[in-house]
Amino acid sequence: MRVFFLDQSGKPGGAELCLIDIAKPYGNSALVGLFADGPFKDLLQQNHIPVEVLATQAIQVRKESSLVQGLKSLVQLAPLITKVIKIAHEYDLIYANTQKALVVGALASFFSRRPLVYHLHDILSKEHFSQTNLHIAVNLANRFASLVIANSQASKIAFVQAGGRPDIIEVVYNGFETKKYQTDESDINKLQQQLGLQGKFVVGHFSRLAPWKGQHILIDALAKCPPEVTAILMGDALFGEQDYVQQLHRQVAELGLENRVKFLGFRSDIPQLMAACDLVAHTSISPEPFGRVIVEAMLCGKPVVAPKAGGVMELVEHGLNGFLMTPGEPHELAQIIITCLQETEITATIANNAQTSATRRFDVAIINQQIAQLLSHITSA
Ligand code: UDP
Ligand code: GLC
Repeated sequence: MRVFFLDQSGKPGGAELCLIDIAKPYGNSALVGLFADGPFKDLLQQNHIPVEVLATQAIQVRKESSLVQGLKSLVQLAPLITKVIKIAHEYDLIYANTQKALVVGALASFFSRRPLVYHLHDILSKEHFSQTNLHIAVNLANRFASLVIANSQASKIAFVQAGGRPDIIEVVYNGFETKKYQTDESDINKLQQQLGLQGKFVVGHFSRLAPWKGQHILIDALAKCPPEVTAILMGDALFGEQDYVQQLHRQVAELGLENRVKFLGFRSDIPQLMAACDLVAHTSISPEPFGRVIVEAMLCGKPVVAPKAGGVMELVEHGLNGFLMTPGEPHELAQIIITCLQETEITATIANNAQTSATRRFDVAIINQQIAQLLSHITSA
């Protein structure tokens, strides 16, 4: 089957990393069309996935855009849409991986008469999107998509609550190459030495720097923990959240935590870094649609703490395969960090349970089979 994937981003967010795993099995029968150039294109090339940057101009529409702004950007999009329609004729299916890709993909599907699949990586609620953008996403999906793949039950429920058709949506979790998360002890020791982590209790945070990802909650919690507890924060401000980055640095200085917090920027050695941690903390203050980082920590055999909201509730069972906290509560997070520091045996058992079940549940081969089956129903319909 020839699949034409569309994604608006040139940067490797979770939705884009997920797309790499989905597109890979299609090899040269796939094309990923991007609406922006950037490091995501390089990652696709490294994975031998055909990729083309289709837009030369940045698309202006944002999560909080109004209808007028939306219409203006549609005019701007005309050359891109024309290009996508032309390419779509050579493929069996259009697979939109982001919201702007849905807008372009819907029009291309209509004009090229190719079926459209929308992979929904978001919780379509007012907490995350403007009313206009919610409206556009749900209506386009209802009208043009043969299938919506939701990354969690939480994303599916929000879609249906926003008026989305329940008969076109299926939940498929992100898949992972589980072997990638088995790391070499000597690499980890080297990394610990380089980063000066020996003898510390290391809490790792692995999200892009953005207010809703809640890095500030971890920093507040750290101030309430014993001095051997240290935090390393991986990730960049992928979408220009520079004010938040400044705020985080100010917070660290005000709390006198300069020696206990390290910002390491965007990294591509996530399994090794996770293995160098004693605990992985996920601290989103708005419901997380899925949360790749949580599954990755489990696959690395590391204990994970995450907020009880959104898709996280489908991944973590408190005390069985991880720890749940109230979103935005640094006190609770500090308590959990201290429990992990003190109750090492129970914590290790929980992390082992998590590793065993995550390896089974999120194996990319099985997840890709589920997707292939769903896609074959559409193209044979
Ligand atoms: N990630 C990465 N390098 C970093 C920080 C994060 O490769 O420095 C990866 C992380 O391993 C995860 C993804 O980025 O696979 C983030 O996905 P998630 O679903 O957790 O959140 P999103 O950013 O998509 O909302
Ligand atoms: C989005 C969501 C994240 C999810 C990822 C992959 O980026 O914010 O929660 O894990 O997509 O589906």
